Amino acid sequence: MIWETLADYDDLSERAANIFLGAIRRNPRIVLALPTGRTPVRMYERVVAACTRDYHCFRDVITFNLDEYAGIERTHPGSYYTFMKQHLFGFTDIDPGNAHIPNGAASDLDAECARYERDIAAAGGLDVTFLGLGSNGHIGFNEPGTPFDSRTRVVTLAESTRIANAPLFPDGKVPTHAITMGIATILESKSIVLLASGEKKRAAIERLRSGEISEEFPASALWKHPDVTVLTA
Ligand code: GLP
Repeated sequence: MIWETLADYDDLSERAANIFLGAIRRNPRIVLALPTGRTPVRMYERVVAACTRDYHCFRDVITFNLDEYAGIERTHPGSYYTFMKQHLFGFTDIDPGNAHIPNGAASDLDAECARYERDIAAAGGLDVTFLGLGSNGHIGFNEPGTPFDSRTRVVTLAESTRIANAPLFPDGKVPTHAITMGIATILESKSIVLLASGEKKRAAIERLRSGEISEEFPASALWKHPDVTVLTA
């Protein structure tokens, strides 16, 4: 695991964006797994700014989002579909057919999860996965206790996660469930970049750094992967 400590959130975002842009320039047909949340917002801003100058950056890129809330339409303002449109997809030339996000409003959610796994495999697997970090150590929506051999599935959100994400649901109706890639799905990515910034993540970063591997701390599964970069600020 390579650890890089950046001076602040801006520096972290710039470093993450450089890794992102380098990857899509080296391989214009790259398959990326993408996170949502507050942490990657400025990375996306910088990627968008760079791609405004070179608008075809995303023409052949394939993306799979890590997760999506279940039980809300993709047009809901709190959905990750909306988030991706507002922060990345709305400003790039990505082919909408190549920008995959689990459909949390599917009538058969288990079938949707199986389809998602099949689509990742059909795309040739994930090349680079960008991850945020929950303050309880979650990655995607893999909460503490998730088996490391888990794949894309429906999960119940931890109460602390629902509280952390409540600002996206001003009506108070924070979803109770989500679809997330599993830990095994994430670990099959050729390389992984984890972004963690701010006081609220300090304890989780230190727990990850300790090297203890436990299903009670999902991010610790990353120690099993040969190519992980952790960016902290
Ligand atoms: C959310 C997302 C995760 C994200 C994490 C941290 O619940 N499902 O993919 O990495 O929580 O979010 P933030 O960056 O807003 O702290």
